[in-house]
Amino acid sequence: MKRQYLVPLVALMVLVLGAMLAASACGDDDGGGDDGGSSTGASGDLADIAAARGLTPEDQKHALQQFVPPGQYDDYIMFASGGHSGQVYVIGMPSMRILKVIAAFTPEPWQGFGYGADWGDTILEEGNPEGTELTWGDTHHPALSETGGDYDGRWLYVNDRANGRMAMIDLRDMRTKQIIAVPNIQTSHGGLFVTPDSEYAMITSKFPMPWPPGTYAGSDEYAEVYRGASAWLKIDQTTGLVNMDESFQIELPPYTQDLADAGKLVSDGWAFFGSFNTELSTGADFDEETDLPIGEPMEAGASKNNFDYLHLINWKAAEQLIADGKYEMIGGQRVIRMDTAVEEGILYLIPEPKSPHGIDVSPTGRYLVVSGKLDPHVTVFDFEKIETAIAADDFEGTDDYGIPILNFDSVVAAQVEVGAGPLHTQFDSKGHGYTSLFLESAVAKFTLGEDVLTSGEPAFELVDKISIHYNIGHLATAEGDTVSPDDNYLVALNKWSIDRYAPIGPLHPQNFQLIDLVDGAGPMDLIADMPFGIGEPHYVQIIKADKLSPLEIYEPGTDSLTMSADPDAIIAGEERIERNGNTVEVWMTATRSHFVPDILRVNEGDTVILHVTNIEQTRDATHGFAISQYNIQASLEPGESVDFEFVADKSGAYNFYCTEFCSALHLEMAGWLLVQPSDAVAAID
Ligand code: CUA
Repeated sequence: MKRQYLVPLVALMVLVLGAMLAASACGDDDGGGDDGGSSTGASGDLADIAAARGLTPEDQKHALQQFVPPGQYDDYIMFASGGHSGQVYVIGMPSMRILKVIAAFTPEPWQGFGYGADWGDTILEEGNPEGTELTWGDTHHPALSETGGDYDGRWLYVNDRANGRMAMIDLRDMRTKQIIAVPNIQTSHGGLFVTPDSEYAMITSKFPMPWPPGTYAGSDEYAEVYRGASAWLKIDQTTGLVNMDESFQIELPPYTQDLADAGKLVSDGWAFFGSFNTELSTGADFDEETDLPIGEPMEAGASKNNFDYLHLINWKAAEQLIADGKYEMIGGQRVIRMDTAVEEGILYLIPEPKSPHGIDVSPTGRYLVVSGKLDPHVTVFDFEKIETAIAADDFEGTDDYGIPILNFDSVVAAQVEVGAGPLHTQFDSKGHGYTSLFLESAVAKFTLGEDVLTSGEPAFELVDKISIHYNIGHLATAEGDTVSPDDNYLVALNKWSIDRYAPIGPLHPQNFQLIDLVDGAGPMDLIADMPFGIGEPHYVQIIKADKLSPLEIYEPGTDSLTMSADPDAIIAGEERIERNGNTVEVWMTATRSHFVPDILRVNEGDTVILHVTNIEQTRDATHGFAISQYNIQASLEPGESVDFEFVADKSGAYNFYCTEFCSALHLEMAGWLLVQPSDAVAAID
């Protein structure tokens, strides 16, 4: 026995020695380049690899900062909206590896979302506005549920920019459980957040629409008839689902409401959202005689005013107005009309420069940071001053809809010149804000007020700047939207990557860049690039990984739609087929490596109801279930029970099979759906 091991051991030692010699020889040559073999840096010791690959000490440091060894886990989980993919991406940080795709608004075949299984089909169908069948969404703003202003790892909400919808994702199994087509809202951009104790998910309209919903009004009636809405979707504290009967809305003027954030701590109970196009531009009509535009295009018309309006809503007071019955039913929702909101003092405006985008509330809740896309400053408002001004009726007047406008000078704390094209701001715990600069392709770091600054730096000053690549939109710090952000990482979400990756055709990937915040002490340091070639992720939220406790397997017989026991789930030995008129109902099990039963005989035109239970309780023992030519595919996770219903409208012999490589006999995990033609002599009964 011993001699048998000795021979391979000696061979191995010779191999290792050979590799070391080859590597050192390669280290000795002066980087002669691409002549193949180990000179590419695939092996050798650290210095050899670095030399062969041309890595500077800086590069090596960054590689180590990002590296998560095989078998170890990332410290953070980032939930990224998937943009046009209509999905949500789960990404480990700092490694920046995609771990999962969560299907939200768009069918997704691996998970079987939208391909015949009850879970996906039910949710996608419920998410269709009346009379419309949508097959995509533009996911924009993920919002993690919070307890006491900190992410709690229970639920995730995300909006659909294109269609004004919101999806709710259960973080126990990271699956979508609900899509709400929010009434009275057609589009929503960045107006999604969760309040500090997850009382509500708030979503705002972007472009206003004619009210009442379902009516038509031309652009000449824009000011009178078009309206926006702030929708407060009540979150059930047990399930995380939205209860529309307990939700409400507030009518808004036809400005283009934009990014939003919830107050926290000192400003808890308030919500803030920016707006642009207070000019009420509707774009230019085209003269069919002259083929020339009449009037101003939207871009010019909507950027004339030096100030637009930051909106303030006291949502806790709004909740009381609803309880007091001060609402009207519109589109099936309880709506506080604009004049009621003004009369009761729950809606105010603050002038904000110019064509603003982001509004972000600092961790203590005191500072509201607004970025004007066409102004090189961030404007910092002080919530304490806002409260004082409201109490003192310190208004400069009202807008055309009678909404009181606070005096800018009474509520501003500072304006900090940060650079060209500021968009969004995130914070650390040391009193800094980090603002994305779209036009300048940079992140600016500036200081907030002395009450939160721990570094001894002067208040309200630009203190650092780092270039990014290129055209940054949002940015996010770890635990960034909470009352206690971490001070280690920032992710820049860049729209253009240009020259950062190997050319792959005219459509380039988006570019995430991981930045080291050096414990808030700076200077900021770029660690790594991550290409994202799936859609345009708009925003991310980043949670400590240990706050999540996802399921490893489902309890036996779980319906993932309801997260409770499926009444049609079975155990091995309970499989059966029942025929009732033209309906055939099948209770099937799936386990390595067979379906029971594995022959289904039906007549052409029969309704087939299939209940398939994956009776496995082993981690990762997923099976799939697909029927050829019937467009049916689902993923059956361990313990999960999935229901299908379809009409066997095509006669023939159709193979069904397991779509997951589950075992050595995975290919044998299959069966037949035999659909006997309706003109056959003997029907099956
Ligand atoms: Cu089960 Cu492949």
